[in-house]
Amino acid sequence: MKLLIVNGPNLNMLGIREKHLYGTRDYAALCAYIQQKAKELGVEAEIFQSNHEGAIVDAIQGAYQRVDGIVINPAAYTHTSVAILDALKAVQVPAAEVHLTDVTRREPFRQISYAGMACQAHFIGLGFEGYGKAMEWMKENA
Ligand code: DQA
Repeated sequence: MKLLIVNGPNLNMLGIREKHLYGTRDYAALCAYIQQKAKELGVEAEIFQSNHEGAIVDAIQGAYQRVDGIVINPAAYTHTSVAILDALKAVQVPAAEVHLTDVTRREPFRQISYAGMACQAHFIGLGFEGYGKAMEWMKENA
């Protein structure tokens, strides 16, 4: 099983950005966590991060008929991007939404998730563990 893990803008700034919300572990630590989890589950994880909406759309399109599942944290684009929603719908690959923080308890503008509308599972507010749970979900359901 091959999974594409997509991370949106500013997630590369983990460990630096708003530590009270996102913690002190950096992006390399997140990638290491994901790869360790992939090893445990016996799946392959390809990790992609971009600060650019179009690049994320391209990465999702590139998953078409190539990967078995997409785990996506679109970060700020969660709340704005119909293009990412449409890309997820277009490729028809099982998708799971992840957010490190509990967006349901944050600002009103974070209450809508466009990408989430094309996801079959949601792991919100669990920190790094959310990626692990999403990967487990993929192994069981995709
Ligand atoms: C986030 C939540 C988003 O609202 C925010 O813009 C992010 C990260 C999270 O993982 O908690 O950049 O997706």
